[in-house]
Amino acid sequence: MTTRADMLAGTQDAVVFPGQGSQRPGMGADFYKQWPIARRTFEEACDAVGENLVQLCFEKDPRLHLTEFTQPCILTMEIAAYRALVEAFGLGATVFGGHSLGEYTALVAAGAIPFADAVRLVRRRGALMQQAVPQGKGAMAALLVDDIENSGALRIAKAAGAEVANHNSLAQVVISGTAESIDRAKRELAEALPALNFIPLQVSAPFHSSLMRSIEVEFRAYLESFERNFRPELAARVTSNFTGGFYEARSLTANLVQQIAGSVRWLDNMRAIGARARRIYEIGPGAPLMKFFQTLGRSVTPMTKVADAEAALREYSPPRAEPSTSRSSNGVTGPAAWNAAVPESRPVRMSITAVVPESPSPVAAPASVRTVPQPERASGTRALIDAERLGDASFRADHNVRLAYVAGAMVKGIASPELVIRMGRAGLLAFFGSGGLSLERIEEGIRRIQSALPPGAPWGVNLLHNINHPEMEDRTVDLLLRLGVRCVEASAYTVLTPAVVRYRLKGARLSGDRARPANRLMAKLSRPEVARQFVSPPPERIVRMLHEKGLISDEEARAAARLPMADDLCAEADSGGHTDKGVAFSLLPAMMHLRDEAMAEHRYPARIRVGAAGGIGTPEAAAAAFTMGADFILTGSINQCTPEAGTSDLVKDMLADADIQDFAMAPAGDMFELGARIQVFRKGVFFPARGNKLYELYQRHESLDAIDEKTREQLEKQYFKRSIAEVWAETRAYYLRADPAQVERAEKNGRHKMALVFRWYFVDTMRRAQRGDAADKVNFQVHGGPALGSFNRVVKGTPLESWRNRHVDELAWFLMRGAARVLEERWLRFSSSAVAERVA
Ligand SMILES: Cc1cc2nc3c(=O)[nH]c(=O)nc-3n(C[C@H](O)[C@H](O)[C@H](O)COP(=O)(O)O)c2cc1C
Repeated sequence: MTTRADMLAGTQDAVVFPGQGSQRPGMGADFYKQWPIARRTFEEACDAVGENLVQLCFEKDPRLHLTEFTQPCILTMEIAAYRALVEAFGLGATVFGGHSLGEYTALVAAGAIPFADAVRLVRRRGALMQQAVPQGKGAMAALLVDDIENSGALRIAKAAGAEVANHNSLAQVVISGTAESIDRAKRELAEALPALNFIPLQVSAPFHSSLMRSIEVEFRAYLESFERNFRPELAARVTSNFTGGFYEARSLTANLVQQIAGSVRWLDNMRAIGARARRIYEIGPGAPLMKFFQTLGRSVTPMTKVADAEAALREYSPPRAEPSTSRSSNGVTGPAAWNAAVPESRPVRMSITAVVPESPSPVAAPASVRTVPQPERASGTRALIDAERLGDASFRADHNVRLAYVAGAMVKGIASPELVIRMGRAGLLAFFGSGGLSLERIEEGIRRIQSALPPGAPWGVNLLHNINHPEMEDRTVDLLLRLGVRCVEASAYTVLTPAVVRYRLKGARLSGDRARPANRLMAKLSRPEVARQFVSPPPERIVRMLHEKGLISDEEARAAARLPMADDLCAEADSGGHTDKGVAFSLLPAMMHLRDEAMAEHRYPARIRVGAAGGIGTPEAAAAAFTMGADFILTGSINQCTPEAGTSDLVKDMLADADIQDFAMAPAGDMFELGARIQVFRKGVFFPARGNKLYELYQRHESLDAIDEKTREQLEKQYFKRSIAEVWAETRAYYLRADPAQVERAEKNGRHKMALVFRWYFVDTMRRAQRGDAADKVNFQVHGGPALGSFNRVVKGTPLESWRNRHVDELAWFLMRGAARVLEERWLRFSSSAVAERVA
């Protein structure tokens, strides 16, 4: 039977990547100097692991030889060079292989693992390998002799207790094990096979031996946390060290785990690659693999330096694409996608029409993500734009998150501890919706989050300005400080209050003339005059007052002058819940300019980031925000319709069916008298109309008694479902506990009493919705905005149509991955038409 591999034999180009042992200072420096894409690759890796890999690779840093650093350095150098060669010469490999660590490079090159993930993975892999066996306890040695497999050397080494770590070539095997077993093997091999060359290797641990088993469980768990990003179907073009053959789609994670303690079957890998490849290129330091291939009679072109690569690829033309392997459903070939990034000075080699993609299909379900549908990328192409690179790198680093994405607070615990925990476990930031909850419930929620998440995991709590009860804001700050909450989303502020300033300054330290806050603050707002207060240092007046009262220390007071109130501003355009109905296109640039002015004026050492919120429910909207310069995005409405949200299933059922026009404005209960408005769900409910009616009655009447009998009856029967007297009794009892002055005032002032009674309706309608009282659905108050309608449209007909599948972290990935793909498609389209114009 002719297999698919047989049919492809000898027609494709292969690239192979060496692994550890080949590193040397300065590796890749020439690629880095010559090609911007190589520099960007290094930057991306530095961001991913928070280490200066440029220094490690190029500046004789001794840590280059510590495996924890060696591994990300080699991977980065190899990918930087590979990307440069693809971009500059249209290198069009469709077969990939790598030796040990190099297998990760191969998987990245094939598009199976995102680069940033791979850098993190190999860093952890290196660190774990280092820790697995105490220094000096293990050893490795290379055995060199002709026809090594039949020489008897392996049997002798195994009998001595050593294990075969690498089957490198017909003439070389590497053994690994305890130092004693390697010593014993050395003695016995010298006696039995005098022709054998025994070369001890300078390694810090016995790699690829059973001594590495102890780290498998931990590494597997770490790998699995990235699995959602993998595209295992693309690994079929990569050889597996563990099996010797090409990957099978399901085995990606398992093989990578087993590879650590298993033999590297590189000899079999070379045979498998050789059977498919016409030309084989080696990219990486030192080109050790070339010599291994030579033992099989295959020649390999080494591309260790730019000069080698230029000489080798000057006349390069990619092999004709195999329609079923490298050509995608939308006509973009892998190399072609990269060729779209050809620098201006280079000749354009590919047909221009081949690089123009069709419109993306935004909802096609990929095999790589279990439940989350993603816009499709051409198979065989690799990401030009990575979801994890969108937004600002310092945002991701400071908040310790994988994505520049935030799930905003939702009142009354709708942004529940479960929601925050799920996001935190996924390495994503969410804010607990503390607004409208008692201090006891806030404390309980925070404690639940703290006990579920490890220290350093991203999470925060909403600090909501409370215009009616400023003391509540103060007590909330006391609680946040007492419980050690290190990050808040401050919202609903029109002016800065002592409470929010105190939160910001507590724990702030001065070193030299630099101030370091202990508490991070994201200010969510939609007005420039409010933003100006948050990009400025805390007002001196408030700082002085806090200091005089002993609420902040001398150092905290002095630090105030050098700190902006907020680390992050979130410009909120028209959104669910409280909204100024701002327009994102106007708001975001205005806030960014304001930030720039403040940075120039105050010269803060760290840049204040500006993010975007409001209306983001599709990859396209997220992409637009990043295109405008958002450092991060924040969502709200879509997260209310997830299994983790703290509201009823009935509300979620209703919301999952919402369209963009199913939202309306209604009065806000918490600022009822001021006429503030919120955006709520209106389909099939009377709440918006009834809320508006109550506000209108409040405006027209001096007291409840002034309202006509018929209207009062209607309120009691349809709105309140109880008598006005009962509502007042309940309200009065509440305020006698919470704020007795309100009762006193209401008993003297009929209009105030009316306001308190009407506000009861706003509290109660929200409770009814959260409880899911089916019999009283028409009185549900459900905050939300059109972002949810647009999201519902995009996911129609996919698994995400059901809210039960919409896990909050998966929505984050859906939007961010989708945004990356939208940007990539647009970029390819615009840049390819620009190239076409230049060529024409
Ligand atoms: C149900 C719901 C409740 C909300 N409650 C709060 C809140 O208590 N505090 C807050 O700062 N923002 C609140 N928001 C706003 C969100 O955090 C977020 O800023 C906003 O929803 C983003 O706009 P979008 O709805 O268009 O995605 C709420 C939003 C919704 C949908």
